[in-house]
This record gives sequence, structure tokens and C-alpha cells, in this order.
Amino acid sequence: MKNTVVTFQQMKDKGEKITMLTAYDYSTAKLVDGAGINSILVGDSLGNVVLGYPDTVSVTMEDMIHHGAAVARGAENALVVIDMPFMSYQASVYDAVVNAGRLMKEGRAGAVKLEGGEEMCPQIEAITKASIPVVAHLGLTPQSINVFGGYKSQGRDLASARKLIRDAQLVQEAGAFAVVLECVPERLATYISKRLRIPTIGIGAGAGCDGQVLVYADMLAMFSDFRPKFVKAFANVGEAMKAGFRAYDEEVKAGTYPAEEHNYTIDDEIFEEVTKGL
Ligand code: KIV
Repeated sequence: MKNTVVTFQQMKDKGEKITMLTAYDYSTAKLVDGAGINSILVGDSLGNVVLGYPDTVSVTMEDMIHHGAAVARGAENALVVIDMPFMSYQASVYDAVVNAGRLMKEGRAGAVKLEGGEEMCPQIEAITKASIPVVAHLGLTPQSINVFGGYKSQGRDLASARKLIRDAQLVQEAGAFAVVLECVPERLATYISKRLRIPTIGIGAGAGCDGQVLVYADMLAMFSDFRPKFVKAFANVGEAMKAGFRAYDEEVKAGTYPAEEHNYTIDDEIFEEVTKGL
């Protein structure tokens, strides 16, 4: 069954957990979708995981559209959410609406996600009014890495915990249909999840959230540059890939691959004729 923004709300209302994983290409999207995951996030973690940047700041609209459209082609039932990259929405409400529209039209998104609370409410309101569903993102918002001074959990002191509760309420009022809570204390995230009408999707925010999201390359142990505390390796695909690459290297060098069964054949007569006199 196709997942939509309505499904998200129904799942929260029934107390069913929502699952979301990232993907950045067609084949991975097909696997995630086929596993029954409710939503695929084309996160700007694309910058770290796929493009090899140290952070998400350099990711462009073109990157997100290119990878978003590939994911959308592979997602039959999962709701595809595409991240708005850094500086595609912060400078003005106009930019935000135009760029959200591009992610829908060119990237074939079902919804967009953007980082920020109170200060981004005018953008959330305008994008929602343009009939584009918005997921808000609070807590550790990686596009603000240069302000935070590192990837640090948020909402642990009185002022920032208060701000988080207020921001969550405000993004809901501005029209967001869900909110990602990243690296937030479990008790605070559970409290916010209970207070809000819309679903919360946690990442490093404990089991009290209405859903969970992870970067697929983290939860399959494929990405080794850094490993946040909240990541669990559900499979060791990184090691399995390396073992496969090693076996290929060995067999090619030993002359055992390709073998007879991998070859195409040509009729003897044609071969004799084509090589005659050469
Ligand atoms: O870019 C991303 O993958 C994200 C998740 C970590 C929530 O925003």
C-alpha cells in the first residue's frame, strides 16, 4: 500500500511505529521499499555517504534532484522525502517555495524536509500553502554544524530544551506533517512526541518517538568515516562487500574467473571465416 502523509498521521493515531531509512539511488530504494519501510529519506547525508564531503554544507539542489529522482523511480510504496540542501531555503521564503517545488517536480518527491524551528516557520507555512508536504528537522541539524561547532546532541540544558519544545510546537502550527528529532535526550523526545499531534521521527532520540530514521549505510555498517553512538549495525554489509571484492580480485588474478559458463560462443565457421588471412 502506498504510504502518504495521511498514512503517517494514521500510524501515529493508532500507536504504530513509522519506519524511515535513507537511500540515494534506484537499486537501494528498491530494496528499502521491498522491505516494507514506510518512507525513504533522500537525505543530504548524501554529501557524506555518497559524495565524500566532510559535511552537508556543499550539497546542491542539483545533487538532491539527481539522486531524489533515482530514488523515486525505485520506490513503489514508500513515501519519498527529499532534503532541501543548505541555502536552498534559508535566505528567503521565495527561495524556499521555488526550491521545494523543484524537488517535487524534478525530483518526484512526495514531501520535502528542512532544518530549523521558529526561524523557519515562515518557510514551512509558505511551502505547505503551495501544497507541498513538509517534514521539519530539529535538535542536531547538521547544516548548522558551523554554528554548533561539531556534531553534538541538543536540548540538554534548560534554554535549549525549552527552545526544542517550543520549536516543535511552532513547526506543527506552521503546517509540518512530521518532525525529525536528531540527537535529543530520550526523555525530552518522548515528552515532545506525546505533546505533538503530528508524528515525531527520531534519530538518536530514543524509542518514545513515533518513528525512527537511520542512514542506511550506517545501519548496514557500510560507512566507516564516523559512527554515532545511536547507530546499531543490523547487518555487516561493509565486510560482506569487501570479502566479495577480495574474492573477485583473487579469482581474476588466478585466472579462475571468468570460467567457461560465463563465456559467449561464436560458431566455428564464422570464427574461421572472420580470422582467415589475418
Ligand atoms: O540527511 C539525513 O540523512 C538526515 C537524517 C540523518 C535524518 O537528515
